[in-house]
Amino acid sequence: MNRKRRRVGLIGCGAIGSEIAVAIDSSRVNAELVVVYDVYRERADALANRLNTRPVIADNIDALLASDAELIVEAASQQAVRDHAKSIVEHKKDLMLMSVGALLDDAFYAELHSLLEMYGRRLYLPTGAIAGIDAIRSVKHMLKEVTITTTKHPRALMGTPFFKEHRVNLKGLKKAKVIYRGYAREAVRLFPANVNVAAILSLAGIGADRTMVRIVVDPRAKRNIHEIHARGEFGELYFKVNNIPSPNNPKTSYLAVLSAIECLGRACNDMISIGT
Ligand SMILES: NC(=O)c1ccc[n+]([C@@H]2O[C@H](COP(=O)([O-])OP(=O)(O)OC[C@H]3O[C@@H](n4cnc5c(N)ncnc54)[C@H](O)[C@@H]3O)[C@@H](O)[C@H]2O)c1
Repeated sequence: MNRKRRRVGLIGCGAIGSEIAVAIDSSRVNAELVVVYDVYRERADALANRLNTRPVIADNIDALLASDAELIVEAASQQAVRDHAKSIVEHKKDLMLMSVGALLDDAFYAELHSLLEMYGRRLYLPTGAIAGIDAIRSVKHMLKEVTITTTKHPRALMGTPFFKEHRVNLKGLKKAKVIYRGYAREAVRLFPANVNVAAILSLAGIGADRTMVRIVVDPRAKRNIHEIHARGEFGELYFKVNNIPSPNNPKTSYLAVLSAIECLGRACNDMISIGT
């Protein structure tokens, strides 16, 4: 029996958004992409032109909100989440977020949570570029320490707000260097496009004020590496992921794209949901 396809809308037509759209278009996900929106209209146009089933291109967020999409996928930026997540839920649509760092603002998270309850909507958060979130959730109340160490090539960190406050000569770097140690709440502000994984880890585990983040820049790094160490009364967990960067955005790991597609697949056909 064919299950009804869910009507999906997309905010952000970059590396992740484009791959999600292509996955829907090629029926890898039981959904129909009905509307796409990007602050740069030409990116939405270019994406729509690649698809067999063309979605409506929204000129602004109001057009997306007025559409008949039942589930909106955000693959844009933390600012897009802050600006639009609440209105999306108020328009009775479910939401899947990639820019999870925005949820580490406690007041914003609480407001979004109460809107989700009020409107009976669901929020989907893919595990992104890391592994082991299921185990972290299972031992949540026993955790004593959680650290994530992220190692990237300098080009994947260029332009982040951290460098406005700290002078690091990325171009002159010859070997790996730890450039940042701090807690997730601060890290998502300083590295908004690089540590959404720290946000997911915080939400699943011991929170943004106790999840330690280390950022390592390595001029020889060919992969985006995330290492998670967690310790507690249950024992110890260690996960390491060597990610190939997305060909279209070196800040984004390809696993994040695949995780988004898998999460959307479950959201659109949740008869069996493994690992949730
Ligand atoms: N959860 C994770 O593990 C994870 C992993 C990688 C990336 N991310 C996050 O996912 C988001 C998308 O990543 P990407 O690699 O596709 O980025 P990208 O830069 O390739 O694409 C983002 C697109 O969104 C558009 N955009 C930005 N702000 C917008 C707004 N307010 N409204 C509409 N469109 C807007 C941009 O014009 C761009 O086309 C980023 O915030 C990134 O940090 C999350």
